[in-house]
Amino acid sequence: MAWSDLKKPYVCLAPMDGITNTAFRQIVRKVSKRVILFSEFTNVDGLIRSEYVRQRLNYHPSEHPFFMQIFGSNPDSFAEAACMIEDRGVMGIDINMGCPAKKVVHSQHGSALMKDVDQACRIVESVRKSCSLQVSVKTRLGWNNSDNLIPFCRRLESAGVSLLTIHGRTYKQGFKGDANWDAIYDLKNNVNIPVLGNGDVEDYYDGCQHMNNLDGFMIGRRAIGNPWVFQDCQKYPQPDLSTRITVALEHYDLLRMIKPEHIALKEFRKYLGGYIQGFAHAKAFRCQLIEASDEKSFIHLLEEMKMKVNDFHFSQAS
Ligand SMILES: Cc1cc2nc3c(=O)[nH]c(=O)nc-3n(C[C@H](O)[C@H](O)[C@H](O)COP(=O)(O)O)c2cc1C
Repeated sequence: MAWSDLKKPYVCLAPMDGITNTAFRQIVRKVSKRVILFSEFTNVDGLIRSEYVRQRLNYHPSEHPFFMQIFGSNPDSFAEAACMIEDRGVMGIDINMGCPAKKVVHSQHGSALMKDVDQACRIVESVRKSCSLQVSVKTRLGWNNSDNLIPFCRRLESAGVSLLTIHGRTYKQGFKGDANWDAIYDLKNNVNIPVLGNGDVEDYYDGCQHMNNLDGFMIGRRAIGNPWVFQDCQKYPQPDLSTRITVALEHYDLLRMIKPEHIALKEFRKYLGGYIQGFAHAKAFRCQLIEASDEKSFIHLLEEMKMKVNDFHFSQAS
């Protein structure tokens, strides 16, 4: 599948480590048919060495169109990992050149590649040579500022990248301050490939408001426990609490297919706030759910909450 086969704006689930695993991606797909899904990042050397890490390549056919995101610094490892990924039949490979985590940057991965343009291009070329998949790059505005964004991305385009996603913050900013989209619009005027904007998008409508000359947008944090965020709220009504709990329970079941009980229970906490956000008593319920000592009581609490749904009124304030 090529970008030209997809309808614009390209609406994408942003890659998020510990969040966008196959369970959550399947839930996003169930709710929003047109979203392009991106996996959480996976280290290329891990993929080569470890059968356990390779399990992260598993996905459900419903997830198409789907990009697998990888990170690392060795072009040969990227080539080997790319072959493995191609065998899985995904739409493309996304290379992370924006992660600011200390451990990642110290290993010359992620954001560090913005400072080593030659190495970044060698990686892209290596992936392009080793497989026939589309290659995209997700990066940030730059290290301290956006001065180098256009030359960096032009080099990536020449190396064979067919899509760019820009998180509108610098490495130094981390997640601080507001995302700056003006630099992304400027970039789009200077490359010939699709560009997606990313950073602080609230929902589909807000993403469309940010589009300007871009080809699409990614939504990250606002999608956690809220797979409806990709729907056009003018066409689809917001789900009621009962629907949200039903989907949360399905999500938990899917998570259990890939994680043991104690891990799934712990990891699901990250999504809970999103699923029940905006409803009266949400905070108190979340606390109860977090304290559930085992799966049985956790599911029971959610089901009980669903039964009592008429007692809860939608309240933006809670
Ligand atoms: C928990 C978490 C994990 C993330 N993991 C990744 C990742 O694996 N790869 C990546 O490119 N970006 C990652 N990001 C960054 C997001 O993809 C996105 O660029 C960022 O959150 C800004 O978008 P948002 O404001 O819509 O959340 C992560 C962000 C969060 C909050």
